[in-house]
Amino acid sequence: IPVEPFDLVIFGATGDLARRKILPALCRRYAEGQMPPEGRIIGAARTELSREDFHTMVSEAFDEFLGASAPDAALRAEFFERLDYITIDALGDDGWSDLSGRLRDDVVRAFYFSVGPSLFGPLATGLGRFGLVTPETRIVVEKPFGNDLETARALNQTLAAHFNETQIYRIDHYLGKETVQNLMAVRFANILFEPLWNARFVDHVQITVAETVGVGGRGAYYDKSGAMRDMVQNHMMQLLCLIAMEPPYSFEPDAVRDEKLKVIHALDPVEPRQVVRGQYGGGADTASYAEEVETPDSNTESYIALKVGISNWRWKGTPFYLRTGKRLRARTSEIAVTFRDPPHSIFGEDAPWKANILVIRLQPDEGMTLKVMIKEPGPGGMRLKDVALDMSFADALGEDMHIPDAYERLIMDVIRGNQTLFMRGDEVEAAWAWTDPIIAAWQKTADTPKPYDPGSSGPDEALKLIHLDGRSWREIR
Ligand code: BG6
Repeated sequence: IPVEPFDLVIFGATGDLARRKILPALCRRYAEGQMPPEGRIIGAARTELSREDFHTMVSEAFDEFLGASAPDAALRAEFFERLDYITIDALGDDGWSDLSGRLRDDVVRAFYFSVGPSLFGPLATGLGRFGLVTPETRIVVEKPFGNDLETARALNQTLAAHFNETQIYRIDHYLGKETVQNLMAVRFANILFEPLWNARFVDHVQITVAETVGVGGRGAYYDKSGAMRDMVQNHMMQLLCLIAMEPPYSFEPDAVRDEKLKVIHALDPVEPRQVVRGQYGGGADTASYAEEVETPDSNTESYIALKVGISNWRWKGTPFYLRTGKRLRARTSEIAVTFRDPPHSIFGEDAPWKANILVIRLQPDEGMTLKVMIKEPGPGGMRLKDVALDMSFADALGEDMHIPDAYERLIMDVIRGNQTLFMRGDEVEAAWAWTDPIIAAWQKTADTPKPYDPGSSGPDEALKLIHLDGRSWREIR
C-alpha cells in the first residue's frame, strides 16, 4: 500500500549512511510500489553538486553497496525523477530559503538528520528559524543520541524547543530489523512462551551481537565511544527491553515504549566485576584496534560482556548476559533463552539433562531454534537426547523472500507517522542514566581492556564472567 504524499529531505545526503543505507532503502521501497507519485526526496549537503552529479553519486553507491541486487537502469531513472539535490549550509544561511521554496505545504514533511551529532542542534534551529516546521513535519535523528545523560538531555531540550515529541523520530536501526520485530511476534502472538517467560522458568538469557568487521574508517568516532556506547546503550538495550518487557496493552507507540522504559528503570546497577572489556590485537593480515584508530595507548573497548540483573517481579533472579564485539569469529546476532531444568526427573537422577533453549537468530540465517529433549530411538532403554526444532525464515517463507533492510521499514514508518519502532526521549535518557555509572566506574579504576585475538570469541576473562555462575556462553559461529 503506498504511503501518503511526502517531501523527505535528507541532510548529509552525500555521507556514508545516506549512500549505503537510506537511499538504497528508498529506491527499494519505490520499486515495491510503496512510494506514491507525489513522494519526493531532496538530498541536502554542503557540497556543491548539480542534480545530475548527485544522481551519478547515488548510482555509484547502488553499485558499490547493493551488488547483484542493485536496481537496473530503468528503475534508477524512474527513481531519480523523484530525487532532487540542494546545497545547504547547516551552520549558516545559505540554501535555506531555496529549500523552503521547494517544499510543499500540504504534504508530510520529513527531515532526516543523517549528519554528525554536532549538527543536530543547528539543523533543528535552522528549520525553526527559516519557518520550515509545519504541523505535519517530522524529524529523524540518527545515533549517537548524546554521549552521556547530560548531552542526551541537552539534545532533547534543543529538539523540544522546535518540535513536539510526536514529531521526533530517534532511530535505532535494530528496531527496524525484521527479526527484532519478530521478538514481539514470538512473545505476544503465541500462547506458548509467555507463561514460561519469567524467573521461575528461565534460568538465564544471553544476548550476543558479534561482528567480524573491525572499526575500519570509523576510528575517530569509535575511539571516543567504544562498544558500551556504540552498541550496548542503544541496540542491545532495545533487544533486552523487547525480551524483558511486560506485554504492552497494544502495539501503539506509547504502549510499547512505556513498557520498555519500565525495564530500563528496573535494571540493576552493574558492578565492575560484572563487566569485561576487551580490545582486539593484530592478526596475520589485520591491523590491531590501536593501529586502526591510530592511538597506541587507546583504552577503548571493542568488545564488552556484562551480566545484568533486572529487579522486578518477573525477572529477579534471572541474569541477562550481554556481549558484543568487533573482529570476532563470526558475524552472528542471537538471543538465547535458557530454561530451568524440570523439577524432578522420572528417568532417574543420572539421565543426561540438557536445558530447553529457545534461540532467536537475528542475523544471519534468521530463524528460531527450540532445543528439546526426546528419547533416542532404539531398544536400549529410555535414553534421552537433545534435538533442535529448527526453523529458518528463508525455508519457512520461501528462499526468494526479500527480508527488507531495517531502514526500509523505519523510513516508511516516519512517513506513516508511526513511532512504535523509535525511541522516545525519556527512554534514551533512562538508558544513559544506567550506562553512565558503568563507564564512570571503569574510568575511575583506570581499567584497561583485555586483549583478544582477531577471529576469536573475545577475551578469556569474559568466559570466566559466566563460568563463575556455572554457565557458559553459546559458541560464536
Ligand atoms: C551501528 C554501530 O549502530 O551498528 C556499528 O555504530 C555496528 O559499530 C552496527 O557495526 C551494527 O549493525 P548491523 O545492522 O550490521 O548489525
